[in-house]
Amino acid sequence: MTISARVKEIPVSAIHEMTRLSQQYEDVAFLSWAKPMSETPKHICEGAIHAIEQGLTSGYSPSPGIPELRAAVAEKLRRDNAVDALATQILVTVGSIEGLAAAVMASVDPGDEVLLPTPTYSTHITQVTLASAVPVLVPLIEAQGYALDIDAFERAITRRTKAIMICTPNNPTGTVFRESDLRRLAALAVEHDLTVIVDEAYEYFTFDPHRHFSLASIPEIADSVVTCYTFTKTYVMTGWRIGYLHASEERITEINKAHIPFAICAPVVSQHAALAALRGSQDCVEHYRRRYQSMRDLMCERLDRLDAVFSYVTPGGSYLMFPRILTDTGSDSMRFCKQLLAESRVSVTPGIAFGPTGEEHVRMSFCVPESMINKAFDRMERYFGV
Ligand SMILES: Cc1ncc(COP(=O)(O)O)c(C=O)c1O
Repeated sequence: MTISARVKEIPVSAIHEMTRLSQQYEDVAFLSWAKPMSETPKHICEGAIHAIEQGLTSGYSPSPGIPELRAAVAEKLRRDNAVDALATQILVTVGSIEGLAAAVMASVDPGDEVLLPTPTYSTHITQVTLASAVPVLVPLIEAQGYALDIDAFERAITRRTKAIMICTPNNPTGTVFRESDLRRLAALAVEHDLTVIVDEAYEYFTFDPHRHFSLASIPEIADSVVTCYTFTKTYVMTGWRIGYLHASEERITEINKAHIPFAICAPVVSQHAALAALRGSQDCVEHYRRRYQSMRDLMCERLDRLDAVFSYVTPGGSYLMFPRILTDTGSDSMRFCKQLLAESRVSVTPGIAFGPTGEEHVRMSFCVPESMINKAFDRMERYFGV
């Protein structure tokens, strides 16, 4: 069996390993999936059904997406993200994940270095490895609420550095990176001629006083940024596999060349559903945001009662948080999670999955029903003898 060195280099995902193990037990309290548990809103499903009935979905679309969707996305970026976007600067992708992969492929050559924070969304690291580039991990400052360490980013730049890749709000820490830090990062990128790939999957889920800020809204850096977005989180469209990216028109032409061999085009039925999402009422998005905020508050309250076991930074966004394990068994987060699952039927994600500084932490998701959070914490209180 011949397997490429770059694929061999990719470790087995700790997230998938925990999912596999969790399936061996019954009645598990799941805090390990970053997947919204509700259903796609009805008006979005109806948009897809209508497109099928109209016979619009059996062929390929143009590879960058159907023109109406690209135009609606550009309008949304102008309205909600202060990004001066045109329809020709939009590429519709298979979830944000394919857009991120295509953006990395189009931005780096083998051996180039890409700076990423740690902890970060582990798939970004894998995407860099798949492009035969080198991920260079720059620790976030946990003591400052997992803030970006811009000085450390600057020190990490070498002759080989080609790109920076971040997500804000951040998975797994839920940090909404500060506008001032993002502006400093932008200046650094301009100074060193680096591409910045930004994943804004959780853009709508921020909690007061935190505000989402899109790097692409800074005019001086507009040509150097690729921003990847998704319908997965905003409209609970996980299985529809639909997202998009924004970049300069010149970059879109190049990224499209990487997009075609991965996808040809995004699923056409999902493009029509996405159009219905953008054209319909946005009340559902605010409804999810409020629900995540109250689930975050509940999770923090329950964590406060376990203060001998975990310390935490209150997340400003997303539906994820990243408590530090305080017990002696916490130094190996994978072992800690396996034991917690086996002995108390609670599934959380080992922090090591998100980069070296993720060790001694776990990721917990609060995109679950209140009853699931309470069940998990009741069990942990019994398990840790609180
Ligand atoms: C930060 C981040 N980016 C991207 C994705 C993938 O999303 P999509 O379904 O749009 O491919 C996820 C999914 O969990 C995520 O957390």
